[in-house]
Amino acid sequence: MPAPGSQFDRKTLFLRACQGQSTDRAPVWMMRQAGRYLPEYRAVRAKHSFLEVCKTPSLAVEVSLQPYQALGMDAVIVFSDILIPAEAMGLPIHFGDGGPELPEKIRGRGDVDRLRDFDPERETRFLLDAISELCRSLGPEVPVLGFAGAPWTLACYMIDGGGHVGFPHSKRMLRAQPELMHQFLRRIARNTARYLQAQLAAGAAAVQLFDTWAGELSRHDYEAFALPALQQLFADLMPGNAPVIYYSKASNHLLESAARSGATVLSVDWRVDLHELRASLLERTGRLWPLQGNVDPAVLYSSESTIAASARDALSQTSGHGHILNLGHGILPDVEVHAARAFIQAGQTQLHHLPGDTSGGAPAAAPVSTGNP
Ligand code: CP3
Repeated sequence: MPAPGSQFDRKTLFLRACQGQSTDRAPVWMMRQAGRYLPEYRAVRAKHSFLEVCKTPSLAVEVSLQPYQALGMDAVIVFSDILIPAEAMGLPIHFGDGGPELPEKIRGRGDVDRLRDFDPERETRFLLDAISELCRSLGPEVPVLGFAGAPWTLACYMIDGGGHVGFPHSKRMLRAQPELMHQFLRRIARNTARYLQAQLAAGAAAVQLFDTWAGELSRHDYEAFALPALQQLFADLMPGNAPVIYYSKASNHLLESAARSGATVLSVDWRVDLHELRASLLERTGRLWPLQGNVDPAVLYSSESTIAASARDALSQTSGHGHILNLGHGILPDVEVHAARAFIQAGQTQLHHLPGDTSGGAPAAAPVSTGNP
């Protein structure tokens, strides 16, 4: 069955956009689309803890499907968390009201040496089962996405023990024990490659790597520490034809370097102009980069017409080609469902407007302010 407003089914549309092939419209989904803004998610969480939902395939499948059933986006991301592999490597994790906490932090060589290399088939079987069950219930025409944290971002949580502003202990290790930091990042990269491989083998059509805290690093430190670990991860992963999407936040100064990571698609936040990014990457890499993003999640607090205009503005920056429309970071927990629906629908009704095209593509939107700095 074709996706709304397209001649392609959702998986074909998504994979074509990731590979930079022509499509009749851009596919659209939202990072963190399964979550607290949905009343049906809150109902499940009233009965089960966050980790219980992650580790029970039937519950993980149920909440992964909730946004798709409510809003009909073009991709379904499996419900999990980037910290699940930290636990599989030996660090207990807790999810409290203040976000994740890791009581046993990585601070010295002994801590890194004690980490386990884990077998995803055994230690994270629940995630692989959730992916295969999602693929079975959605059929071959809807892409299921797997994911993991990028080495630097996961290291930040494992060293600082939670989401602490500026990640001071992580910065300290990078400065005071650079060799240990390299070793730690390589260790995460090796485990993450196997973890993502297992997700692809379970049926994921593509995988996304979340590097939420990349922007903490200068370009020099990113190239010295984060990038080599990413390159190792992607080289070990050998994803075949499956796209690998690399998300980084507040990373305008890093994207030329990120383009050398081995990723297929760069996913960026609202600080980036997609047209300018594509032009500068084309000049430097000779490649027209597939891009994902990048509407400010706070735009979903606006009126439906402003939300639609912001979606169209993002699409107009790429003419919708080789573009997966998304938010620039995860959807916020107190957004109203109708606002999320307005975003998805705006994406799904915005056909490409090619120069000289009189065949019914919606006119390119007038640029609107998306509240960017
Ligand atoms: O996109 C999806 O729908 C899949 C689910 C998903 C979750 N976390 C579920 C979740 C994904 C892709 C993630 C990734 C993740 N987790 C990231 C990278 C993306 C980003 O947002 O920066 C990070 C940094 C984490 C770590 C994490 N998990 C934090 C900082 C928090 C607390 C903040 C918050 O939103 O509460 C979590 C908890 C978490 N992960 C929730 C969800 C739905 C909320 C838990 C709850 O239900 O109470």
